[in-house]
Amino acid sequence: MSATPELLGLIERLECEHSLSEAEYARLIDGRTPELADALRERAVRVRKEIYGNAVFVRGLIELSSWCKNDCRYCGIRRSNDKAERYRLTPEDILACCREGWDLGFRTFVLQGGEDPWFTDERLVPLLQSIKAEFPDCAVTLSLGERSRESYQRLFEAGADRYLLRHETADAEHYWKLHPRELSWQHRMDCLRALKEIGYQVGCGFMVGSPYQTSAQLAKDLKFIEQFRPHMCGIGPFIPHKDTPFRDEPAGSVELTCYLLSILRLIQPNLLLPSTTALGTLDPQGREKGILAGANVVMPNLSPVSVRKKYMLYDNKICTGDESAQCRSCLSLRMASIGYEVVTSRGDPAGGIEGIRNSE
Ligand code: 5AD
Ligand code: FES
Repeated sequence: MSATPELLGLIERLECEHSLSEAEYARLIDGRTPELADALRERAVRVRKEIYGNAVFVRGLIELSSWCKNDCRYCGIRRSNDKAERYRLTPEDILACCREGWDLGFRTFVLQGGEDPWFTDERLVPLLQSIKAEFPDCAVTLSLGERSRESYQRLFEAGADRYLLRHETADAEHYWKLHPRELSWQHRMDCLRALKEIGYQVGCGFMVGSPYQTSAQLAKDLKFIEQFRPHMCGIGPFIPHKDTPFRDEPAGSVELTCYLLSILRLIQPNLLLPSTTALGTLDPQGREKGILAGANVVMPNLSPVSVRKKYMLYDNKICTGDESAQCRSCLSLRMASIGYEVVTSRGDPAGGIEGIRNSE
């Protein structure tokens, strides 16, 4: 007997109530079929269209350092990878990227990097102040890992608007399998809560198909997101990197990632959901598939082409060759080809951030 009618019922309820039990999320994940994926996708696209029309928001990603003091087992720039090429952009380099980005139509800059101790508050505060002074109509997103609450506060006061910190997994046991003991799941969760309390627009997220991941753990991720109510959520397939302990692990699946994107859209209709570079790396049409499943953000690379190959979190990452200088126009064409329009705006969540903040 097909389980489809029951699961279609769950999807209908999810769309109305924006919530399922953890066991029901797991049922939906385990029961995935092309038919259910279509049903989810169709609803997710409809819900997103009502809020965002056919707009896709764009963020200029500036990868400011490949130095990292952490040793996450999945990541190509982990500190014990002595084959990783290390670089660090200067504040002047970063401002130059923003200037180029502004001309290309970016109104959000995402400063992302490994946890590089060189980027102290003393260095970041004046950088943020300069960016905000020169580009007052732009949002600045930081993605610099775990820092103290005081540091998050100072960076917010210096002008940072948003912070991305993937929780990686909502299951503490699973977290230990992906990270060395010196990193703590509890601390990661505390950071996310602190960021929200300070007033950032906050993004969490996880990898799909990371080693040891089960559907019960993915269900926990969905429940966590439902309850935490982030403004953004970045999910992408795990992709093995040849110089990490997970080199022989299988990559995650594009189809499951898209399925989860559709579920997330129904959990939180105004969520900012990027269609990630990792999706585009596993499948040449991956980012288009992500948008068609319910995502509404793309984050093309704005880093200088000379450093792009050095920010290799996983093997075969796209947009690192000479041809990639114009990711913004490449992505605009790609999105136009599927009927979407990349818009020049800050791309804040619909309903304003007050609608989301502290609604737990
Ligand atoms: N495959 C896919 N995503 C990865 N990340 C790090 N390493 C990999 C990998 N091998 C993701 C993590 C991190 C984000 C910046 O990139 O989720 O939070
Ligand atoms: Fe980078 Fe297409 S988005 S080359």
